[in-house]
Amino acid sequence: MEFPGSPPKRCAVLYGSGLFEEAAGFAVSLAAGAAVAVVSDETVAGFYAGRLLEALRARGLPAEPVVFTPGGEAGKNWETLGEVLLSLAKIGVGRDGLVIALGGGVPGDISGLAAALCCRGIAWIQMPTTTLAMADSALGGKTAVNSGGAKNLIGAFHQPSAVFADLDTLATLPTRHLRAGLAEVVKTALMLDGGLFELLESSPRDLLDHRGPRLRQALERCARLKAGIVARDEREAGERAVLNAGHTVGHALEAAAAPELLHGEAVALGLLLECRLAERLTGFPPEGTQRLRRLLNALGLPTAVPRSLDTSRLAELMSLDKKAKAGKLRFALPATVGNPFLRGGEWTSPVELDLVMDLLKD
Ligand code: NAD
Ligand code: GLY
Repeated sequence: MEFPGSPPKRCAVLYGSGLFEEAAGFAVSLAAGAAVAVVSDETVAGFYAGRLLEALRARGLPAEPVVFTPGGEAGKNWETLGEVLLSLAKIGVGRDGLVIALGGGVPGDISGLAAALCCRGIAWIQMPTTTLAMADSALGGKTAVNSGGAKNLIGAFHQPSAVFADLDTLATLPTRHLRAGLAEVVKTALMLDGGLFELLESSPRDLLDHRGPRLRQALERCARLKAGIVARDEREAGERAVLNAGHTVGHALEAAAAPELLHGEAVALGLLLECRLAERLTGFPPEGTQRLRRLLNALGLPTAVPRSLDTSRLAELMSLDKKAKAGKLRFALPATVGNPFLRGGEWTSPVELDLVMDLLKD
């Protein structure tokens, strides 16, 4: 006997400015008359929830805000998820309802998981408001919360119906966060697109201007590259793992150094360490590591781990990594700038924890 699985789902992705009206119009086409929840953290809600709610209500949608606190990594947990789910129930979001994630990767990941769990899966839309979410986290349907100190341990794959990335919202994003999100752009370029890497190297400062064309071009190019990978390997059976470059070390660093490092900053450090690993394991050229270091410096991203880092905690956290297989850590490593390392059909390579710790001490 065979049961049918869900058909592949298409997701519209738009980058631009003034997209709130467009998002509201799309919401009507998806959930006319049904309850709609706009989920964000307090900061983002303060800036943008009013505008979105107004646009939704003007189109006759009974939209309500769901605001969680604290925002950021501190609020990305089981408790917040439970509160969001309770709020959806109170608002009356049912099977025909809609969740709109308004914010960075944290509201995106929490809202998506809430949408996956509510009535066994309801429609949702992402409105990313950070460079990190626009480059990566809003795309591809990974949703999660942290648990027991481990990043993203509880989660689901649940594709949004659309992503509206309004670059105007970046006007209020603190510069440190704007820079941190660019680490995901660098990751995508390092693993998949040497031409994009060169473009980033040629004018890194332009990427810090959300009104200029460069940032939008880079974000769109990342989205296209990620779309190709998700189309081939939505559930990360293989190739999608290349998008985890920098994250095996990055996630552990982020948790061990919390709250000192932002997610993107930890990914930047993770990429650098993983390039040094790749020099030993995949023949990645040392000039590639130097180019990466220069680019990270030019973007104002860290290239040295915090002095206060508790390395034994880091080792403990790395061994909790959910991508470990048979107790061995696995890393997605670059072969050259712009190309992932692939051997024997495997997109990740086994790495001894001791080697990682030795490189960290260097
Ligand atoms: P975030 O959502 O916490 O946003 C960062 C900070 O910026 C928050 O304090 C937020 O309130 C504030 N903020 C957001 N938008 C703003 C705006 N426009 N103006 C002013 N302030 C604004 O974090 P993030 O850096 O966007 O995302 C990091 C998270 O994303 C991590 O939890 C990470 O695990 C997750 N992530 C998920 C995926 C995925 O595929 N699902 C991929 C990469 C990262
Ligand atoms: N951020 C990695 C992925 O979406 O697979």
